[in-house]
Amino acid sequence: MGRALGTTVLVAAVGLVAGTGCRRIDGFETVTPQGGAIRTLFVLEIVLATLVCVAVASAVAYALVRFRDRPDAPEPPQIHGNTKLELAWTAAPALLLVALYVLTVRTMGTVEAEASNALRVRVIAHQWWWEFEYPELGIVTANELQVPVGQPVWLDLTSADVAHNFWIPQFGWKKDNTPNHVTPIHVQVDQPGVYDGSCNEYCGIQHAWMRVRAIASPPAEFQAWVARNQQPAPVTAARGQQVFQQRTCINCHAVQGVGGARVGPDLSHFGSRTIIGAGVMENTPANLRAWIQDPQRIKPGALMPGYPDLSEEDLAALVEYLEGLK
Ligand code: CUA
Repeated sequence: MGRALGTTVLVAAVGLVAGTGCRRIDGFETVTPQGGAIRTLFVLEIVLATLVCVAVASAVAYALVRFRDRPDAPEPPQIHGNTKLELAWTAAPALLLVALYVLTVRTMGTVEAEASNALRVRVIAHQWWWEFEYPELGIVTANELQVPVGQPVWLDLTSADVAHNFWIPQFGWKKDNTPNHVTPIHVQVDQPGVYDGSCNEYCGIQHAWMRVRAIASPPAEFQAWVARNQQPAPVTAARGQQVFQQRTCINCHAVQGVGGARVGPDLSHFGSRTIIGAGVMENTPANLRAWIQDPQRIKPGALMPGYPDLSEEDLAALVEYLEGLK
């Protein structure tokens, strides 16, 4: 029970810190059946713990008052070695623990249940951003996870470097991203919406700016996103594309139809994403300009070098190009 209370305090503290951003983050308002099952178990444990606490505290309070020392009062009846009482207060907690064990195992069964029609997404954690790969759809994107509402999703968690932890509080549960290992986690998001989360395992200097955003849309909207993302985005700034290719961007970032490496986040449809630098900034042309010039000022330690020497024309063209990739 101490663990449950500890978790409450921890959730509240993390919620406070993480909640200072733009969106409410609430581990109790889960939007998945998996999270719902865990919340039900958690609330039940809190209720049971409260009942036990009240019962024990009341018994102690009663004994303190009823049997307090008074002048001329006789010694109260001694119960040491009372077999019935000893059995009762050993059996009651044992039964309670057995009940909690059974309920926990049942909840684990619900949460871990696999669905045959699940959408698979590889969630690859990097210092300090998230890569999402949809192997069956041929899509790679970053930092924003798109999922359809009402369909089971199987997230294969892994890491490209150190241990991370993929945590979207409203999904209701989380697991570690471990290098050289795949850990599946099942969710089904039942309400459309935007759900913010963060890395939850200390992973280096920018752990705090390893935010993640999940966007759950109705199936038709999700299918439209899939169709858009299976095609290269139309190029709206040819000069900017040249800059992208000539000025080393392409050594780390890939854009569909152009090429590039998968060292940093894929930028194929960057213009349609809402955040930059795994949540450190909103995606606006002014922020992107500042980010390209000096990411180290905005997110010290990020692996992207700055480009302070880009000419004004090149920078403007590059920003126009990237923001145009929708
Ligand atoms: Cu990744 Cu903390």
